[in-house]
Amino acid sequence: MFSNDFLEKITRFIMTHKKHILFLLLSVITISISSNALAFPAFKWGSPDVAIDLGTQNTLIALCENEETKIMANFPSFIAFRRDTLEVMCVGEEAKEMYGKTPPYILALRPMQDGVIKDFEGAGIMLHHVFKQAKEYSRGLFRGPRMIVGVPCSVTDPEERAIREAAFQNGAREVHVVMEPMAAAIGADLPIEQARGSMVVDIGGGTTDIVVISLKAPVVSRAIRMAGDAMDRAIVKYIHDNFSLNIGEQTAEKIKKEIGAAWLPEGTKGKSMEVSGSDIVKGEPRTITMTTLDIIKATNECIEKIINEIRAALNDTPVELASDIARDGILLVGGSALLEGMAKRIALSIGAGKDTIKITVPKNPMLAVVDGLGKIAANFEHYRESLFSKTMGSR
Ligand SMILES: Nc1ncnc2c1ncn2[C@@H]1O[C@H](COP(=O)(O)OP(=O)(O)OP(=O)(O)O)[C@@H](O)[C@H]1O
Ligand SMILES: [Mg+2]
Repeated sequence: MFSNDFLEKITRFIMTHKKHILFLLLSVITISISSNALAFPAFKWGSPDVAIDLGTQNTLIALCENEETKIMANFPSFIAFRRDTLEVMCVGEEAKEMYGKTPPYILALRPMQDGVIKDFEGAGIMLHHVFKQAKEYSRGLFRGPRMIVGVPCSVTDPEERAIREAAFQNGAREVHVVMEPMAAAIGADLPIEQARGSMVVDIGGGTTDIVVISLKAPVVSRAIRMAGDAMDRAIVKYIHDNFSLNIGEQTAEKIKKEIGAAWLPEGTKGKSMEVSGSDIVKGEPRTITMTTLDIIKATNECIEKIINEIRAALNDTPVELASDIARDGILLVGGSALLEGMAKRIALSIGAGKDTIKITVPKNPMLAVVDGLGKIAANFEHYRESLFSKTMGSR
């Protein structure tokens, strides 16, 4: 492509001016890095921010760039690794499929359950995997990404330290931890900066988090280890006690999603499905038919406990803020908000049977937290002072 003569000239030029060329290159790099620090977008050579929702059931990783939140990964919080070397074999859906079916040399587990760490080793490996992946997505040239991490209200100090350490070890430049319901409130544009009560109920897999926010800070915050997982276990128990059949929790979750409901309109029957399991006496496979009504009965106690907790949070709320909530309603997020009739059941129970309280469920309640984290990243300077000064539900 180039003649030998031309290449020779170029080489000679480089050799004679190598000091100048080096100086020029270093100047460009320095200007680029400092421009990035000043957030001058034309020179943004650093990494885009990363939002991470560390759910006990589902983990989401999103890139936040140019005010847009792009979900890069959304997977079940399951991991499978070799017991001897601790080498990660798979994470997410594949590991969830392996759960309960592995030979002794593999451990497939869900490190967090019911809002607490069930397996510390697994949780550590999982955290490192998530942050490593987050760093890879952010593809920065010179600086690691700023990571904004959503955690349940019930997170303990050692758990939070473990999260921060894992993020820094995997290349984060800054780590900011935000309470998940606070992120959901920001995502849904609730007027949290005003002297007005906003209530968020996040019914996830392991925990139900309830907060009342006013003037950028949680005024009331309650969390119970009662959410989707507890419903799955209740379905397993119901089928065991009423049909003498053993089924696994994953099967129970499938039944719940397919035919489950928290409430049925009068005069409707709901759906039904065939469920296979093993007979508790004979150990033989057997199939039964389950109906929506069965699921309502099975999960009734769990749902009542969640509703009681919402009532208790409202009782703890100062009266002026409670009247704001009575007028503006409740934001309901988390995967269990997708259970058929859940919003209606809460509205009927809290509204003393008159359906007076408005329950708003965003279009995709499972993305509410990550959407909010993305919004925080997009307006980071706006939230920096209030959000990360330990007043606004950050930790
Ligand atoms: N269509 C559906 N109907 C009923 N429940 C559903 C549906 N879709 C998801 N879920 C339930 O939502 C729960 C997961 O929700 P989510 O992803 O918000 O949890 P998480 O954020 O991982 O958990 P946590 O916030 O407790 O740490 C699971 O229990 C799942 O069974
Ligand atoms: Mg959650």
